[in-house]
Amino acid sequence: NYYAILMAGGVGSRFWPVSTTEFPKQFHDMLGTGETLIQRTFSRLTKIIPKENIFILTNQRYNDLVLEQLPEVQQKQVVTEPAMRNTAPCILYASLKIQKDNPDAVMVVAPSDHWIEDETAFIANLEQSFIACSKSDILMTLGIQPTFPNTGYGYIHYDKESKVARKKVIQFTEKPDYDTAKQFLSTGNYLWNAGIFIWSAKSIITAFSRFQKEMTALFEKGIQVYNTKEEGDFINTNYPLAENISIDYAILEKAENVYVFPATFDWNDLGTWGSLYDKLDKTEANNAVVNANVLAVNASNNMIRTSSDKIVVVDGLEDYIIVDKEDVLLIYPKSKEQDIKVVLKKVKEKY
Ligand code: GDD
Ligand code: MG
Repeated sequence: NYYAILMAGGVGSRFWPVSTTEFPKQFHDMLGTGETLIQRTFSRLTKIIPKENIFILTNQRYNDLVLEQLPEVQQKQVVTEPAMRNTAPCILYASLKIQKDNPDAVMVVAPSDHWIEDETAFIANLEQSFIACSKSDILMTLGIQPTFPNTGYGYIHYDKESKVARKKVIQFTEKPDYDTAKQFLSTGNYLWNAGIFIWSAKSIITAFSRFQKEMTALFEKGIQVYNTKEEGDFINTNYPLAENISIDYAILEKAENVYVFPATFDWNDLGTWGSLYDKLDKTEANNAVVNANVLAVNASNNMIRTSSDKIVVVDGLEDYIIVDKEDVLLIYPKSKEQDIKVVLKKVKEKY
């Protein structure tokens, strides 16, 4: 009864110029291991979930990329979205499809682009969560020990005194502002939301019908055509009508039956060049290098990546992102990595 929903519809714009709308980061070998992020994630999940029960949720435009990179996946496992509506609509849609197929389904909802080193610990955490969610009507999150007031994450206020492995969540707060995040951190009763969720199809659909009535009515209206030939037409017409909202705001901030499992594995959401730098092995000058052959003089703490194994000579540069692609060369301070999103917009306007 174990299923997975792999979310692979994001664009990863802070990883420009490597990640683009045509070819987002989950389809790239960001770590230089010979595997793309989605391939790594898929193979991690097959350790506990039958291959045929892993569904990939993505935009229609990435359908062929998914099939190409995951040859074991059949077309019916790729759930395509005709419009970008963030994670809530696609999770509801896929959950309804899965429930129609198997009313007792228990699933993990996972991003396709994260770094998890200790896969054994990850699988153990997942298994414990699956067992808990098979028995109870709960929405399970995996919590990460926070290290700084990152405003890009969800924060989980939980009952620290609880002696059981899964802790009751007092309040889930998605992307707080900096001061709030700082205050959360100082109390010590908060975890970061890893963005990996476990629940039964029944529990998540129940939560949607309570907190997202309109969206639920929209998608339930088509239930009789799901998993049939007519599904495509229904989705093309109706999917774009769904509200653009993430699962965090749509459900997790609102539901009272949310629990958290403090994760026992190392986690990194590979959101920016700097977070990738942190996870890569470093050269003696503390540069992280993917593909390039680097000659570094007085140059350290740089993230250097070329698309082929080009020679890169760098002198006198510290804490920079140096990324080369056929048509773009980016040289940008690591401290401003969040702005790459904004810069990309400007580039698109100008060129
Ligand atoms: N199929 C599909 N469709 N996938 C999507 C869509 C969509 O419209 N939008 C985003 N995704 C995918 C992304 O590719 C990513 O794998 C995942 O869903 C999460 O989306 P992000 O856009 O990366 O979310 P976030 O990083 O802002 O926040 C989430 O993750 C954090 C941890 O990395 C939240 O769950 C936070 O609470 C959490 O801390
Ligand atoms: Mg993310």
